[in-house]
Amino acid sequence: MSKVTIVGGGYVGLTTAACLADLGNEVVVVDIDEAKVASLQRHRVHFFEPGLQEVVERNALGGRLKFTTSFQEAIPGAEYAFLAVATPEGEGGQADVSAVEKAALAIGEFMDGPLVIVNKSTVPIGTGDLVSSLVAQRTRHEARVASNPEFLREGQALQDFMNPDRVVIGAHDRAVAEQVARLYEPLDAPILITDIYTAEMIKYASNAFLATRISFINEIARIAERVGADVKVVADGMGLDRRIGPSFLEAGIGYGGSCFPKDVKALAAIAEKYDYHPELLTAVMDINRDQRALVVTKLKECLGSLSDKSVGLLGLAFKPNTDDMREAPSLDIARVLLALGARVRAYDPAAIEKAREILPEIQYQADAYATAREADALVMVTEWNEFRQLDLARVKDLMRSPVLIDGRNIYDPTRMRDLGFTYRGIGR
Ligand code: UDX
Repeated sequence: MSKVTIVGGGYVGLTTAACLADLGNEVVVVDIDEAKVASLQRHRVHFFEPGLQEVVERNALGGRLKFTTSFQEAIPGAEYAFLAVATPEGEGGQADVSAVEKAALAIGEFMDGPLVIVNKSTVPIGTGDLVSSLVAQRTRHEARVASNPEFLREGQALQDFMNPDRVVIGAHDRAVAEQVARLYEPLDAPILITDIYTAEMIKYASNAFLATRISFINEIARIAERVGADVKVVADGMGLDRRIGPSFLEAGIGYGGSCFPKDVKALAAIAEKYDYHPELLTAVMDINRDQRALVVTKLKECLGSLSDKSVGLLGLAFKPNTDDMREAPSLDIARVLLALGARVRAYDPAAIEKAREILPEIQYQADAYATAREADALVMVTEWNEFRQLDLARVKDLMRSPVLIDGRNIYDPTRMRDLGFTYRGIGR
């Protein structure tokens, strides 16, 4: 059992806290957001992540998981302090680490003995050293800093925490990294111990590589579509090669979310800062941006002018099983459609509330069928399972014109055409 404080009660912080508590540790989450903490003190998770509510409740009731807004309460006595605060996009694409800096100063102020500070936030290389120096300004106790990047996917964060492909821990001093590794011993996962700069870089390199695979397959999709090949089958054929593997080869409307867009941009900004122009990363970002516009181009091909046309979006969240709208392709698509004079209707099983705050101009619907009613076209934006088994004949009957742009390639083109749809996938 260890005493762990987690600074930041967002996706990463709360998942880490709940899982470490579940492994038997005594965990305190400290967050400056009073409403968030008040909700967590009532054991209510303020965002949608499958299973998290239950684990939070179980451990809070078991007395292993507590929540506070006070560093003075959370830091004294802790053996580990995790930094899991947001590092949003700042000026010039660089990650904004001001929340990390503030947290470091607050930790320094209240620590009352030796402490291991573990950084989980995605930060520019060298931020670990910055944290060390900030903490040292405020305390005479020994603080040792490690980097332990997170690789949690939203929608399966608990599973990813408990069964990770790897745990990466970087520190200047190997003994510190080993101390952090002890927290992960019950997981039986491969643990890679390295220096702190390399650990910070592994996070950026991993996300940039996955984003590159997505932009790569999207580029192949554009070529496939011109030569008459089917990118889905091309990806299957590629994925069977063990050197390539099948994952992250789904062509579509591009990547979104809280990590990939920001991390690729931040890595490119880091490279530029060190006088290297990252050609590949630049292309990855450009392809991803254009991929969203492709849906609108396809709509125009099918409908001509989009002025006064009714377009229904199936799905809004950046991916299924989350209500997260950060950098969701749906936002760009909807904005362009609205600017072109189209009327936009949309349905998402979880994200409507969040989408409404950002885009009140959309007419939000109760389900996929209501979205199809009188629509001139539908766009499959987020591949929620409930869209896979729709009564497509009914959908077609409800529409004014049966145009379906499948931004996620979830439907079978032949079947769609047999049903009478004007069907366009991505790269097929
Ligand atoms: C990602 C990383 O996977 C995780 O390790 C990291 O720490 C945080 O960022 P997440 O943002 O939850 O996790 O999403 P992920 O499931 O990785 O998907 C990212 C985006 O890529 C989504 O918009 C998804 O739709 C898109 N994607 C994914 C594709 O377009 N094609 C694919 O083949 C795979």
